[in-house]
Amino acid sequence: MKITVVGTGYVGLVTGTCFAETGNQVTCVDIDVNKVNKLSAGQITIYEPGLEKLFERNLKEGRLNFTTDLEKGISEAKVIFLALPTPPGEDGSADLSYILGVSEKLGPMLKDYKVIVDKSTVPVGTADKVHAAIAKNAKVEFDVVSNPEFLREGVAVEDFMKPDRVVIGTQSEKARKVMGDLYAPFVRQGNPIIYMDEKSAELTKYAANSFLATKISFMNEIAILCEKLGADVDMVRRGIGSDDRIGKRFLFPGIGYGGSCFPKDVQALVKSSQEVSYSFRILDAVMDVNEKQKLFLLPKVNAYFSNNLKGKHFALWGLAFKPNTDDIREAPALYIIDALVNAGATVSVFDPEAMPNVKGVIGDKVAYAENQYATLENADALIIATEWSVFRTPDFDKIGSSLKHKVIFDGRNLFDVAHMQELGFHYESVGRLP
Ligand code: UGA
Repeated sequence: MKITVVGTGYVGLVTGTCFAETGNQVTCVDIDVNKVNKLSAGQITIYEPGLEKLFERNLKEGRLNFTTDLEKGISEAKVIFLALPTPPGEDGSADLSYILGVSEKLGPMLKDYKVIVDKSTVPVGTADKVHAAIAKNAKVEFDVVSNPEFLREGVAVEDFMKPDRVVIGTQSEKARKVMGDLYAPFVRQGNPIIYMDEKSAELTKYAANSFLATKISFMNEIAILCEKLGADVDMVRRGIGSDDRIGKRFLFPGIGYGGSCFPKDVQALVKSSQEVSYSFRILDAVMDVNEKQKLFLLPKVNAYFSNNLKGKHFALWGLAFKPNTDDIREAPALYIIDALVNAGATVSVFDPEAMPNVKGVIGDKVAYAENQYATLENADALIIATEWSVFRTPDFDKIGSSLKHKVIFDGRNLFDVAHMQELGFHYESVGRLP
C-alpha cells in the first residue's frame, strides 16, 4: 500500500519506518528542510534502539522517502497519517494548531478517496475537527480515522511491530477495511485490532496513559507509607502483582514518571474533563503525588548531611527520564539538579545517551563526566536517577573508595538492600527497609 506520514518526529519516523518494513511504499513529509535532507541522506534524527537498521534498509531499498512537498507527498497515497506535535498550551490543553493547519491544506490537494489518520495523541473530538478542516475545501470523498499509538520510547520498534492491540476509531466501513489490511501483518499472533468510534479511540489513548500514571503514583504513595510503617514495598509489590487483576507490570516505585507523554496526557485529560464541567479528582492527585515524588530523595540527602548541602559535591548517575532514551523532558534528574544547586551544592553527572540534551538545556550548571566512575571524583555521595542497565552491577569497591562518604541515594531501587549493608554502604532507596 502507498502511505504518507506527515511529521517526522518520534512517532512519525517510527510509524513510517515500520510500515515500510512490512512492504509498504512510504513517503514522510516534514516542513523542516534540514531534517528532510538529513533523513534522505541516511542520517537518523532520533535515538531509538533497533530503528536505525530498519531505517537504513528501507531507505536503501527505496520503500522509504522523505520530502518537504506535502502535495507531492500525498498525491499517490491511499492513507495519510498525521503524526504532528500537540504540545500543551499554557492552560494544559493540547495545542491543535499543527494538525488543523495541515488538515486545512490537505483539503484542496485531495484528488481521490483517501483515509486520513490521526496518529498523534489528540483530545476527544479532534477527528471531527480534522474532518471539518479538510471538508472546507475538499471536492472528493475522504474519511478521518483515529488510530492512537501506544509506543514506549526505547522499545518503540518492538511495540509497533508486535502491538498488544491496535485501536482503530472509525464509523466508515471503507476506512475500516483499508486500516484492517494495513495492520494485518502486525497482528498475526492473534493480538486484536479493536474497532470503535473515533471519540472512544481518542479517549482510549488518554485513559491508557492516565491509568498507567495512576498505577505509578499509587505505588509511590504505597512506598512512602512503607517507609513510615516499616514495611517493604518490594514485598508489597510482589504480593499484589501476582493478582491478575492488578498485574505485575508498572508497579515499580521510584522518583516519579516523566517523559513527553504521561505528564502531558494526564494534564490534558484533566483539562478536557474541566471543559465538560467535570473534575477528575483521581488525576489531580496523580499529578500532585508525581510532582512531589521527583524530589523524594532530597529530604534523605538533607537529613544525611544535616541540612547543609553548601559546598557538597554530588555524583549523579542517569539524566534521561528512563533508560534507553536520550529524552530528558520532565526528567526527575533535572529537578534534583536544580534542588541541589539551589542549596549550594555542585554536581557531576553521567548518562549514556542524554548528556548532549542536558547540556543544551542547562549548560555548565553541572560538570559532565566521561563515564559513571569519573563522576565520583571528590564527590560526597552518589545519587541514582535513571535505571540504565550499565548502573545495575557497578564496581562497588571503586564507588566506596572514591566517594568521601560511603553513601548512595538510589531513586530506582537498583540494588539489594542487604547486600549494600554487607558492603558497608549507607544506602537509601524508595520504600524499602534499611
Ligand atoms: C508511555 C506509554 O507507556 C506508551 O504506551 C505510550 O504510547 C507513550 O507513553 C505515549 O503516549 O506516547 P513512555 O513515555 O515512552 O510511554 O514511557 P514508559 O516506559 O511508559 O514510562 C513512563 C514513566 O513511568 C517513566 O518515567 C518511568 O520511569 C515511569 N515508571 C514506569 C515508573 O516510575 N514505574 C513503573 O513501574 C513504570
